Amino acid sequence: MGTALTTHAPVGVRSMGHMAMHYKRLEEGPLAARLLGMLGYVLTQDLLLPSGGHFYRFVVDPRHQPRGDGILYLSLLPDAQRDLMEAIHGALHVGTDHEHPTVLALRARMAEDPEYGFHYGTLLESLEDLEAIFATLEEANRHDPDLKGRLKLVYNRPLPGNPDIDARLDASPIYGSVTRHAYGKNGVQAFVETDLLSSGMLGESMMLEFDHVFPGYANHILSVAEWE
Ligand SMILES: [Fe+2]
Repeated sequence: MGTALTTHAPVGVRSMGHMAMHYKRLEEGPLAARLLGMLGYVLTQDLLLPSGGHFYRFVVDPRHQPRGDGILYLSLLPDAQRDLMEAIHGALHVGTDHEHPTVLALRARMAEDPEYGFHYGTLLESLEDLEAIFATLEEANRHDPDLKGRLKLVYNRPLPGNPDIDARLDASPIYGSVTRHAYGKNGVQAFVETDLLSSGMLGESMMLEFDHVFPGYANHILSVAEWE
């Protein structure tokens, strides 16, 4: 028997509030902000700080503009974090041809599964929106002078078995050729990793996830995790 889930009396509504993200280089703040705009986040403030860095506030949806939730802050990686990362990289020979074995092991696992490390997920109600956003990213990664080669794009289809969904995805410009699978049914995932942003154990990049859940299914990728 599984552990009983605790239920609490409804004392008030809660929601996920905000996440603070960091771009790595002072001069790349505007480019990082442009990327978030391409991802569909809505810029509500661009504050230029005395240091020369931009502090941005984005919301995941225009409805969050006046609210305290659904917010993404974007600012320059603080000096002390940058210095610690540089010390870690030096000690573990990160970026050399003799990286520490634990670094190589982490890279191998991250290459297999974009969800292995820290990441942030955004839910899109429209699959067409998700496909359009990632078609734009694919194009930018090939041809945008500033973003070319700086995006790593990975996609997961749901576990197969739903004929309607399988047919829709077979016809998708993004998912038609995808052979990877999510840990569940009735939804898709799209991942963009960029070295414009810093996160995770090595601070080298950040992974952003975008999901769509097909309507009408209680069992989907974000409600019930399953292994193939
Ligand atoms: Fe995830």
